[in-house]
This record gives sequence, C-alpha cells and structure tokens, in this order.
Amino acid sequence: MRDLAALDLLIRLRKDIEKMNAIDIRNKFLNYFKSKGHTIIPSAPLIPENDPSVLFTTAGMHPLVPYLLGEKHPAGTRLADYQKCLRTVDIDEVGDNRHLTFFEMLGNWSLGDYFKEQSINYSIEFLTKELNIPMEKLSVTCFAGDNDAPRDEETASIWQSVGMPKERIYYFGKDDNWWIAGDEGPCGPDTEIFYDTGKEPCGPHCDPSCGCGKYVEIWNNVFMEYYKSKDGTYTKLKQQNVDTGLGLERINMLLQGKETPFDTEIFKPMMDKLKELSKNDNLQSRRIVAEHLRSSMMIIADGGKPSNIDRGYILRRLIRRMIRHLNKLEIDLNYLQDLIELNFQILGEMYPELIQNKENIINTIIEEKNKFVKTLENGQRELQKELNKLRENNIDTLSAETAFKLYETYGFPPEVTNEIAKESNFKVDLDGFDKLFKEHQEKSRLGSEQKFKGGLADQTEETIAYHTATHLLHKALQIVLGEHATQKGSNITQERLRFDFAHPQKVTKEELDEVERIVNEQIKRDLKVTCEEMSYDEAVKSGAMGLFTNKYGDRVKVYTIGDFSKEICGGPHVEHTGVLGTFKIKKEEASSAGVRRIKAVLIK
Ligand code: ALA
Repeated sequence: MRDLAALDLLIRLRKDIEKMNAIDIRNKFLNYFKSKGHTIIPSAPLIPENDPSVLFTTAGMHPLVPYLLGEKHPAGTRLADYQKCLRTVDIDEVGDNRHLTFFEMLGNWSLGDYFKEQSINYSIEFLTKELNIPMEKLSVTCFAGDNDAPRDEETASIWQSVGMPKERIYYFGKDDNWWIAGDEGPCGPDTEIFYDTGKEPCGPHCDPSCGCGKYVEIWNNVFMEYYKSKDGTYTKLKQQNVDTGLGLERINMLLQGKETPFDTEIFKPMMDKLKELSKNDNLQSRRIVAEHLRSSMMIIADGGKPSNIDRGYILRRLIRRMIRHLNKLEIDLNYLQDLIELNFQILGEMYPELIQNKENIINTIIEEKNKFVKTLENGQRELQKELNKLRENNIDTLSAETAFKLYETYGFPPEVTNEIAKESNFKVDLDGFDKLFKEHQEKSRLGSEQKFKGGLADQTEETIAYHTATHLLHKALQIVLGEHATQKGSNITQERLRFDFAHPQKVTKEELDEVERIVNEQIKRDLKVTCEEMSYDEAVKSGAMGLFTNKYGDRVKVYTIGDFSKEICGGPHVEHTGVLGTFKIKKEEASSAGVRRIKAVLIK
C-alpha cells in the first residue's frame, strides 16, 4: 500500500484538483450525474415550504418524501441536486475544527429506479475518476443487521466487486448505519464512505466509527426501502429508493488538504478579516462568528426572521451568539455591516439568493444587533448579580429557572448565559432550561414538539381536504385584501389549517366574513379539482400562483380548482370541493411583522 500521507500530496498535485474549490466540486457532481441520466433539481429552501413538521431542511430528502413513498416526481426517477441544510443539534460544538450548522449536501436520488449496485458504482467512479481520490484513501461501512433488517452483505460484496478490500469494509449497527430523519418515515440501511486523512490510528481498534479524526465521513448512500411507523415497526416501501448525501464543505476541505473547513475559501477570507479587526484574538470565537454569520445570512435569504419562537428563535440565537463573540474578540460592532458585505463577496456566486436579498439581510442582522446590544448590558448586570449570589452561597450551578428568566426578560440565549457563567467558573442547568423551554413552547402550542413526520406523507382524508381548503382561502384572501396577501407559511393537521400571509394590518371582521363567504361559495359550487404537469415558466405564464419556486425544478404540478384558483403545488387534493363541508375561520392574529395568521376548520 502506498503511504497515505504522501497520497494526499499526490492528489493535490494534480492540477485540476489543486485549483478546485467548492463550487467546482458542486458543478462536477451535478454534471457527472446529469451524464448518468439524472435530472438536476434546484435546492429546496432552508425553510421548508408547506411542511410544518420540521423547522429547517436538514437533508435533501425532506422535500422528496412523497416521491420516496411512491408519488410520481415530475422530473423523473433519477434526480440530483445540491441541498442547503441546517442542523442545529450541534450548535454548541461550533467553534471546534469541524462542526457547522449550515452546510451543503450534494445528492443523487433513485426513486424506485436503480438500487445498491448502481449507486455504489456511481459513488466510487465519481470519487476515484472525477475527483481523483485513490481507492487506498477510502474505507466503507455497512449495516450489521438486527431484528428489523438483515445484515447488508449484499452491499459489502458490491464494495468488494469494485475493488474495496475486505479489511476496509466495516459493519456497524443502527446507530451508525441506518438513516432516518426523526422518528417516523422512509428509512433504510446505509453505507458510508470514509476518507482516511493519513493520521496515525488512535489505538489498536481505531476504525471509521471512532471519531478521532483519522477517518472523515464524506458520503452516505441510503438504501431507502423501509418505512418506520410511529409504533416503531418497519414495513417495506412500495419501491426501493436511493438517497445519498456528500458533504460539500468536507470534501472540499479534504481535497484542498486543509484541516478544517475554516481554512478553505468558504471561510478563510472572513477568518482573516476577523483576525485583522480583532483586538483580542481567539480562534474559536472567530470560527463561531464566521459560521453563525454565514448560517444567519442563508436563513434570512430564505425568508427567516428573528423572533422568540421556532425558526425565528434559532436565527435569533445564531445572531446573538455571533454578536457576543464579536464582543469577545473586541471587534467594534460597527464593522458588522462590512462583515456581511464580505460574505456577499465570498458566497454570492454559490448562493445568488444572498445577493438578491442583500438589503433585507443587512437590515435584519443590524436590527437584531441593535436590539441585542440594548438588552445585553442589562442582562449581563442581572446575570452577574445572580452569579454573586451563587458565590456567596457556595453554589456552582445557575438554576434552570434563572437561565429561563434571563432568556425571557433579556433575550439571553442559554448558550450566552452558559458562556458568561463559564467564564466565572459556574455551570448552568441547561437540561433543566431545555425542559422549561419545551414546557413553555407546549403551553403556547409551538413547534418544539414538531417532529419530522414526512412532509405530506401524513395524507389522511382530513389533511387532504385542508390542503384544498388552503388553496381556496389563499385565493379568497387575495380577492378581499389584494394581491399582496401571498402565502408566507402553511401548517395543516387533521383538525385544522393554519395559514400565514402577507398583510400589514389586522384583518377586519367584515373582511374575514367576506373571505369565509367566498370560500364556502366555492365549496357549494362543487368545483372540480384538476392537476396538470408543465414547466415552471409555463405555470407562471398561465397565471398559477407560484409558491414553490425552486422546489420541484423545471417540471411542476399545477392544481386548478374550477375557474377559481390555480396554484403550483405538489398535492394531493380532493377531487371536488363539495366534499369539504363548511369552512369556518376560528382566529386571525399577527404572526410576525407584516404577516398575519388565520386558523380555520372544516365542519362536516
Ligand atoms: N439523507 C442522508 C443523509 O443526510 C443521505 O446523510
């Protein structure tokens, strides 16, 4: 076997690879899969449209769930995309050498088309032929098997047939080699591809599962042929799917021979700028600022706004934690706008939506900074008082109640409280905080309990009816309030619909009555609901309301309700509006600045 460290050098010496950066890798990936008959679909937004079951898109599969379950995708059975993802479970780890909240995943999909063999062949060809990674640098893992599904020897033997030696094929259980988003939904065994950095093994049992940094996971191929139900049982899906995810920041870092993503072109100019501005340099703080700023900008570009609930709260935490670390670095907050502008330069080509939302991004972050600066001083004083009390009483942990009070009264995210407390050698009962926070959210019926249910996978008669009623409501609002009243969010359960739309002031009782009347009139008319597939441009030209820009790629489905409404939508819908019953608005309230929310029910 060749020396692995020397191989790293070899890879980079190949001219084309040496010059490659993230956007080139993305293009290479998409072109490769295009050449293999895949249709390229655009990244779905970070904020899932019409899918209330998750706060953010955490993987490429979210927008594709109905198709993994068997619905026909307008773009065919082979798809490839780059998907913007946000995962916040590791938010506190950001600042180390690898954790990121926002990242990009390159993915190829088979929706009941090819399966294990073809998928592995594509992956290995792309890595070794397109990216020139020598086979010696790679190891793989397969599912070890349990009561729910057999040991995946088939995958292991496919790996051997493409040249992977037996001793670099490992088997692990569900924790490592089974992929599911949340507790319920399409899932299956996966096979993960690891890159060997050439570092010394951490011990005699060093393997891809040990996390010492020798092996870096680069690609996950999920063989999605099961459905996990709420009760924990597994059944076979109608079709065998493939869902893969190749982490762009990681592969970019490895190909450039860098130790961390912060040393690549995605972050380096920002890291350097922060160093230049900082009067109290600290590598971890610089990484937190660079990482959180990028994530915040991406969330805002996709429609996020800071608030105290759900998505808005995550965004608020990211921005506030970033400000706190700018303070730690002793960087004047007046430079914040320059830093945002710098990110437009660094990331604008990869994510044109940043440039398209330039003003909104700047205003939102600066406004949030101003709010936080005001509360920070008071909150810090209050926290110091609490810490003094603890000191006097020889207690080393700040209670969950106090942390929660700081959060509620001063807008202190728990990690900010934790960081400040830590500086004075105190702990914070963060588990207790989480509990209180959840209770609080439940009380106000907010989303922390929202688990990944598989988007529109939850297709009962009731939810389908609410889906159609939502289209009627959307159109009726536009008739009564004006065309500005466009959809900003939608959440459907079996019991009700909830619809957010743009409107600057409270909707009057008369207006609501009129909306209700119009919807009920369309129900009485028993309008036929029809569906057509067409290109996105044709759909827009035909006057369809376009909510799902970027979601389905070139081909979209357009649902028409009689002569009343036309919307781009994934469906499904009822066949005739007559089955909907009576539509009743239960509540109208503010959702966020400039956005109103209506809750309504259908009474049969
Ligand atoms: N859905 C798989 C993942 O996120 C590919 O790892």
